[in-house]
Amino acid sequence: EQEKSEYKARIKQLLKEQNAVLVAHYYTDPEIQALAEETGGCVSDSLEMARFGRDHPAKTLIVAGVKFMGETAKILSPEKTILMPTLEATCSLDVGCPIEQFSAFCDAHPDHTVVVYANTSAAVKARADWVVTSSIALEIVEHLDGEGKKIIWGPDRHLGSYIAKQTGAEMLMWQGECIVHDEFKARALRQLKAQHPNAAILVHPESPASVVEMADAVGSTSQLIKAAQTMDNDTFIVATDRGIFYKMQQAAPGKTLIEAPTGGEGATCRSCAHCPWMAMNGLKAIASALENQDSSQHEIFVDEALRQGALVPLTRMLDFAK
Ligand code: 13P
Ligand code: SF4
Repeated sequence: EQEKSEYKARIKQLLKEQNAVLVAHYYTDPEIQALAEETGGCVSDSLEMARFGRDHPAKTLIVAGVKFMGETAKILSPEKTILMPTLEATCSLDVGCPIEQFSAFCDAHPDHTVVVYANTSAAVKARADWVVTSSIALEIVEHLDGEGKKIIWGPDRHLGSYIAKQTGAEMLMWQGECIVHDEFKARALRQLKAQHPNAAILVHPESPASVVEMADAVGSTSQLIKAAQTMDNDTFIVATDRGIFYKMQQAAPGKTLIEAPTGGEGATCRSCAHCPWMAMNGLKAIASALENQDSSQHEIFVDEALRQGALVPLTRMLDFAK
């Protein structure tokens, strides 16, 4: 505890000295989210992180999240220094969608509009017509479908199937998944719901279809927090990374929040409702990023040609979201 408060004090001082601001995702540890709040930074979903970082006047952004979030910040603000607690914090969706294969998939269907999730590399974004996050994906696909477009969707197959079902759009799907949400289990969820019949089920659409089907509300992290705040139920079963409980409980004080189950009897899971890459964003790593700004371990660089390519579909998303 003593060590933690020393790190926090040091980080606060470094943020001031370096005209830097901390931008954190809801899945980072509560103490990181609290620090972002206390220091005038932001805690949000991936869409709002992008917007906040782009519009903030600070010279340096320190992005506590995973690599695609740092890259998105750099693509939108090339003049800023973008630091991350660790560059090793990746995402199974990004890893599972290498540019060579994805590009070949797109080349094989040249009459399709390419829509990619923000959880991708700068190179994959640069190959796309649109970037989306989970809070805006449904509206954007609806819009494209309305224009009669056929869609290539990547990389999250669960989110893609959910959107195809909701919109009726014709979508060719890349077969990627989030190792955290893919672990939620419908059978165990049904048992838990039986024990809490008045609870509402909140589900992030990166979860399997069998889990999404049981949801009372489906949405991005910020939309799920809003649902817990506004729905009348006093108990919620939540199928997303448990990092969200910090802000969800703040938004819905007095309500009971229960983690959705990640395995049936005796089952093991790969990540058990907490993203191993989000968990890498510790206080020590943040302090170290701010102390060694020029270190190859912390700063995000994006090739300029790729950056310009990725900026087009990212800007399209941000303009659409206005
Ligand atoms: P959102 O915060 O945009 O819902 O994204 C969730 C996610 O997968 C981040 O890792
Ligand atoms: Fe990627 Fe899933 Fe982790 Fe989000 S929670 S960063 S989608 S692996």
